[in-house]
Amino acid sequence: MRSRELPGLVLSLLLLLPLLLPPCPARSAARFDPTWESLDARQLPAWFDQAKFGIFIHWGVFSVPSFGSEWFWWYWQKEKIPKYVEFMKDNYPPSFKYEDFGPLFTAKFFNANQWADIFQASGAKYIVLTSKHHEGFTLWGSEYSWNWNAIDEGPKRDIVKELEVTIRNRTDLRFGLYYSLFEWFHPLFLEDESSSFHKRQFPVSKTLPELYELVNTYQPEILWSDGDGGAPDQYWNSTGFLAWLYNESPVRDTVVTNDRWGAGSICKHGGFYTCSDRYNPGHLLPHKWENCMTIDKLSWGYRRNAGISDYLTIEELVKQLVETVSCGGNLLMNIGPTLDGTISVVFEERLRQMGSWLRVNGEAIYETHTWRSQNDTVTSDVWYTSKPKEKLVYAIFLKWPISGQLFLGQPKAILGATQVKLLGHGQPLNWISLEQNGIMVELPQLTFPQMPCKWGWALALTNVI
Ligand SMILES: *[C@@H]1O[C@H](CO)[C@@H](O)[C@H](O)[C@H]1NC(C)=O
Ligand SMILES: *[C@@H]1O[C@H](CO)[C@@H](O)[C@H](O)[C@H]1NC(C)=O
Ligand SMILES: *[C@@H]1O[C@H](CO)[C@@H](O)[C@H](O)[C@H]1NC(C)=O
Repeated sequence: MRSRELPGLVLSLLLLLPLLLPPCPARSAARFDPTWESLDARQLPAWFDQAKFGIFIHWGVFSVPSFGSEWFWWYWQKEKIPKYVEFMKDNYPPSFKYEDFGPLFTAKFFNANQWADIFQASGAKYIVLTSKHHEGFTLWGSEYSWNWNAIDEGPKRDIVKELEVTIRNRTDLRFGLYYSLFEWFHPLFLEDESSSFHKRQFPVSKTLPELYELVNTYQPEILWSDGDGGAPDQYWNSTGFLAWLYNESPVRDTVVTNDRWGAGSICKHGGFYTCSDRYNPGHLLPHKWENCMTIDKLSWGYRRNAGISDYLTIEELVKQLVETVSCGGNLLMNIGPTLDGTISVVFEERLRQMGSWLRVNGEAIYETHTWRSQNDTVTSDVWYTSKPKEKLVYAIFLKWPISGQLFLGQPKAILGATQVKLLGHGQPLNWISLEQNGIMVELPQLTFPQMPCKWGWALALTNVI
């Protein structure tokens, strides 16, 4: 109904509206105090939820032995796990120290443009590179990591810079950095630790200066913190740093952070929640979250001793993405480049496969919202997303029914209004309402090569409730 004249009462209410509503503060004007209460109230910049899919990159000196795990140093020398001790005994001289791997980290074939092209082809909207893992080696020329950084040793190149410039110049992806707060064997950290973290030499002389340097120099739009070393956030001065990051830093308007800012902060404080590695709860969370997981099931860093069955298949990866996004999460999918700086063809294939799936089905992923149901109640492995403004619900199904009929228990169709299409196919499909509620969709009869993709499909349902 359209009325030409607003009734008097409505009009005067409209005039009053600016007085009744609280003033809407400009985003950049918001100030944050160095308390969790204040910092946790910050709204995440919208781009992050819209992006849905990012690539995690674990690269460092641990990529030289590329055996077992990126925790190689710890497992070899601290835990003395036989597999690691024997690997060293069999392959290196007795006096060989972990530090001796540094010069061997050559990155000889590292070509940031090649990486950027693969990431772009994967359909990811952001990357997160390990600027420093628990071993302490920085992939940039840190002023605070003397002789244990990529300029002084190994590549003799500013890896972080090269990737940052290329990502920003060549792709539309956002650039993010992972940073480990603690370092396994740093003498100052160990001294602080033995004082039960009453001493704060390490964060004051190493962690915090590096964090400021990293943000000011490379302006990451994701700062992915990790490795609290068992120390509380007061020890790291996480709230002081984050207040600076949100109020003053060059990325204050667009940066997002995670929840790993000190013992007890995970899944509780910070920006988006990561809760645990490979977190995938299977239900909706009231807070934005991210599922960080690895294509190699057993390691984040590259492993020469990985077998093909250790890598998740593309079907398993698509399932991770779909489950995660339906439940309000982002997927951060990890690869580990080799010591040469190459992305092994297995990782490259998985990345390009994700991209080819997203080129057909991205409409059901990017910039979507969760729906009232996350998965279907009648057919398993059907996950929902939605675009309320466009009156669209997407049903992403991971098994093509042999009958050609897909039974969905959740959407309720409206006669004369509901339309159903298969993404990548485009023709309206026949459907009927089921007796109680729900809908049965007649899928098109396609031969295998005619399928728009092979690892999961999406129905766009217009006007269902
Ligand atoms: C960005 O790309 C353009 C075109 O390829 C090139 O001319 C320019 O030098 C690049 N800028 C940087 C900072 O690499
Ligand atoms: C924590 O960081 C803030 C902001 O940089 C600074 O003002 C404050 O002095 C720091 N506090 C400690 C205890 O390091
Ligand atoms: C929906 O997902 C939840 C969580 O993964 C699972 O427990 C439930 O069985 C699923 N429903 C169906 C019908 O598969």
